[in-house]
Amino acid sequence: MIVLGIESSCDETAAAIVNDRREILGQALLSQEEHKAYGGVVPEIAARAHLEHIDEIIGLCVKRAGIKLEELDAVAAAAGPGLIGGVVVGVMAAKALSLALNKPFVAVNHLEGHALCARVSNDVEYPYLLLLVSGGHCQILVVKNVGSYERLGTTIDDAAGEAFDKVAKMLGLGYPGGPMIEKSAAVGDETRFSLPRPLIGSDDCNLSFSGLKTAVRKLVESYAPDGNLNHAAIPGKDVADICACFQYAATDCLVRKLKKAVGIFKRKYPQGRHLVVSGGVAANTYLRSKLQSLAEGEGLEFAAPPIRFCTDNGVMIAWAGLERFRAGFSDSLDFKPRPRWPLDENAPKAAGAGGVKA
Ligand code: KG4
Ligand code: ZN
Repeated sequence: MIVLGIESSCDETAAAIVNDRREILGQALLSQEEHKAYGGVVPEIAARAHLEHIDEIIGLCVKRAGIKLEELDAVAAAAGPGLIGGVVVGVMAAKALSLALNKPFVAVNHLEGHALCARVSNDVEYPYLLLLVSGGHCQILVVKNVGSYERLGTTIDDAAGEAFDKVAKMLGLGYPGGPMIEKSAAVGDETRFSLPRPLIGSDDCNLSFSGLKTAVRKLVESYAPDGNLNHAAIPGKDVADICACFQYAATDCLVRKLKKAVGIFKRKYPQGRHLVVSGGVAANTYLRSKLQSLAEGEGLEFAAPPIRFCTDNGVMIAWAGLERFRAGFSDSLDFKPRPRWPLDENAPKAAGAGGVKA
């Protein structure tokens, strides 16, 4: 079985072709540079850039895979959640191919792409405990099966990646902020400033990063004589220390709430063996090593996608599309892209069990 997947829900235009032997036959990805000047993704610019490059990216992916389009079994696209202008571009491209080739169309939840991506390169079986940490989402979930999720916790304000991006902006480190913070933190002293761990005492698995972000803002403001945000006033060594303390605090919040979730997971799903992290923030090696230790201490196996497949990419959509199609799911060509699409809502039944067949 061979599936093409298209991703265009944020600032990456990407496509990949995978097969059911977990081989990546071809892929192409373009990270939009246009947003750097704005310190964040500008939806209209993103949509136009997707439109400009989508054909070329799909063409390059197919060429690299060395297959004929007729060999595809299905065409998948991220159909939400995300920036609707971009999502529409990818979905329309996938629907057009599906129609022209007379192959089924599979609408993939972008979050399901992140959730299942670790299964391409690791022998991770259902059910598993997942920390999904990206620029727009921060959730702790049990992945019970394709299309079947139980959410144990979520952020009540900012996503983890959003907090990394905002702190990086305050420090003048550029966008996206996560990689820059990680790099700077590597030479910083994580014990120098004491920063809050919001919600850490609460009895649930929910997270919060807004108070942590505000504490960093106050720290940054304390460097300027007029109390304004002025990163130029902060010595380089102090920037590194702030990054290290922020990364430590954010990771600490994630690890402690995940530890609570492990307890629930083990009780409810005693057969589960894996702790998985995915999404853009999962590219952070500091976080990965802390989660590896947590998993080892809890007798679980730790797994994560390779770093290049943590941030948005086509492979995760192609793979989730393949898993969905293999499980009997496909969608009609009038499927409407969904800017909001919770992963744990009641999923439609697979085809053959009353689902929609293209
Ligand atoms: O999954 P993703 O590419 O897009 C969304 O679906 O949101 O995640 C992007 C997020 C950004 O907030 C970025 O700063 C963060 O992932 N990120 C990182 C690292 N690499 C990317 N955060 C922390 N450390 C990193 N190394
Ligand atoms: Zn993403």
